[in-house]
Formats: sequence, C-alpha cells, structure tokens
Amino acid sequence: SDPDPLQDFCVADLSASTSVNGFLCKPASNVSSDDFFFDGLSKEGNTSTIFGSNVTAANVLSFPGLNTLGSSINRVDFAIGGVNPPHSHPRSTETDLVISGQVLVGFVTTGNVYFSKVLSAGQIFVIPRGLVHFQKNVGPGKALIFTTFNSQLPGASVVPLNLFASTPSIPNDVLTKTFQVEDDVVNSIKSKFVVKL
Ligand code: GLV
Ligand code: MN
Repeated sequence: SDPDPLQDFCVADLSASTSVNGFLCKPASNVSSDDFFFDGLSKEGNTSTIFGSNVTAANVLSFPGLNTLGSSINRVDFAIGGVNPPHSHPRSTETDLVISGQVLVGFVTTGNVYFSKVLSAGQIFVIPRGLVHFQKNVGPGKALIFTTFNSQLPGASVVPLNLFASTPSIPNDVLTKTFQVEDDVVNSIKSKFVVKL
C-alpha cells in the first residue's frame, strides 16, 4: 500500500537525508544488477532468542533496491515451539508462505474476531493490513516461512515489546489497571524483555 512509483526504479541512497516518503534515488548511472539482488535471506536466522524465532528482513533499509517499489519480504525461522509474537504492520498487508514445518498463523480483527490456520509447506495465509497477528511453530521440528509485504518498509509494532519494553517505560499503574493485575506481575513481564548489554 505504498504510493505508486513515478519511474522504473529508484535505488535508495540511504546516506542521503530522507525525503517525505522513502529515500532519494542514487544516480541511475551508478545502478547495477547488484542493486536488484539481495542475498540476506539465504541463511537461517539465530532462533536462540526468548521467543524461539528470528525475523530476517529484506526491506528498503537492508535492500535499497526496493525503494519506491511497494514490496518487501522477510524470512522467519522458528525453533521447536518458537513463536513470532503478536505484532502489527501499520503500512502493509502480509502474505505468509510456509517453506517447511507446521505453522499456526493467526490474526485478530478490530472487532476481536480471531482467524487462524495451521499451514504446511507451500500453503499461504493472508493477514490484512494493520491487524495484530502471530505465528507459532506447532510441528515436531524446526519451521521456516517467508512473509511478503506490499510496502518497502511495513513497520512492526510488537505488542509485548510496545507495552512492556518501551523506552521510557509505560508507567506500571497504567499496565496494572489495564490488565487487572498487581505490580509484581507487570514487573515480572517487564523483566523478561530487559535487553542485557
Ligand atoms: C511475520 O509476521 C513478519 O512480519 O515477518
Ligand atoms: Mn508480520
């Protein structure tokens, strides 16, 4: 759902200052085939994370050739039992393609209706723009999916990190009242997401 391009391509010059939307184009005379090629999704991501999953993104920031083209793609690797936690993309619909394993994909509408499906290799599921969704590896081994977007930079608001790992923190009294729990529960959740440097 990005704006339509006004030229064949506009490989991003990430070192130039950002314009209102997207990035300035690097001069066409400096563009080569390599600008339309990206090898960053060929390797498995490190799934030794608290969620047991890893997202590797091919968006305009990692792959400048996507600038103005309204397209991007992620690789998501899952350890056994791994989850890509509930999140939403403010600027994009998402289509999930399973390459290997069995993956539960679900989203929730603005009216709190839950839609979900367990997918295996070759099957796809679409997540309407902006809606909260997740994936979970429900198979006996690892799982791999690719997720495609109609935006060069879909953005991701990760619900648990938004609420419990923001900088600065959302005050505890907001979260205790919101979730109808005591302070220690909020502190416990916040502590899980503290990045150890
Ligand atoms: C998966 O939901 C992703 O955003 O890559
Ligand atoms: Mn997503």
